Amino acid sequence: MDVFRPTTYSRRVQTFLAPKFGSSLATSFLCLLLLLPCCLLQSVQQCPPHNEISPCQCSVKKNGLDILCEFTDNQKIQHTMTTLKSKSGLIIFYLKLRHNNLPKLTGFIFFGLDIRHLTIHNSSLAVVEESSLSSIGKALTQLDLSQNSLAVVPSPALKSLNHLLILNLNHNKISALHSNAFQGLDTLEILTIFENKLSLIEPDSFKGLEKKLKRLNLGGNELTRVPQTSLSKLENLRKLELLHNRIALIEEGDFEGLHNLDSLVLAHNQLRTIPPRVFAHLPLLNSLELDGNHIHTVDPAAFSGLE
Ligand SMILES: *[C@@H]1O[C@H](CO)[C@@H](O)[C@H](O)[C@H]1NC(C)=O
Repeated sequence: MDVFRPTTYSRRVQTFLAPKFGSSLATSFLCLLLLLPCCLLQSVQQCPPHNEISPCQCSVKKNGLDILCEFTDNQKIQHTMTTLKSKSGLIIFYLKLRHNNLPKLTGFIFFGLDIRHLTIHNSSLAVVEESSLSSIGKALTQLDLSQNSLAVVPSPALKSLNHLLILNLNHNKISALHSNAFQGLDTLEILTIFENKLSLIEPDSFKGLEKKLKRLNLGGNELTRVPQTSLSKLENLRKLELLHNRIALIEEGDFEGLHNLDSLVLAHNQLRTIPPRVFAHLPLLNSLELDGNHIHTVDPAAFSGLE
């Protein structure tokens, strides 16, 4: 980002200011110049006094603050958020809420905060109100809601997270993915729903993820078939994990549409046969894991298209 280096800056400003001061171009450079001190200040972050956020802890990291709240409750977390909201210009690079009693994430809890990576882990989270997360959609790139009590994907709360790259819903109680569950997450590259209770994935579940999704982990669930219709649009997917499910049957066409798939994990399922041409729609497949099944018949044409 050359343009933000002061030297480059003054040189350009001079060039533009000298001959035509007052032109709109010069004015916009002048405005940028005036903004510069606050940009520089923003990179020097300071933690609030310990007693104002206790029992949470704060440390300063290279890219912003790292805030950790453990073994506490909603009231204390709310109090800490109120303190953080009262300081302007804070960049919260990590907000980690772990081992808390936080069954509900209430609306506007983070309103006005600049949070880049949010973790709410092992905190009995079951309800995520829509406006709890939608207010931080402009900055949030990673969201980890693992090891909680979510029974559904909190789609309304997620739909404004249009800078999110990674979503982790591992170790929850999600039993079904409904149509448009991830709508709005156009930038998402990694989605992981490992160790849930998934037995149903509706055809349009991954709608909106077609352009960017690269890794999808559906391992540790209760799937009995490859969710072919929902997967078929994920043309940029590189890695698909279906480890530890109950898939007893795969057929030609199951992986149709996954033109860019590089790695497929089907280990620890209940497969007995590998039928002809089942992987033939995967021209770029490099890695295939089939261990931990009960395979007794492999069709001579099982791997055709992969050679
Ligand atoms: C989860 O959090 C509770 C406190 O709410 C704690 O007692 C328990 O040890 C934590 N479990 C894990 C696996 O960290």
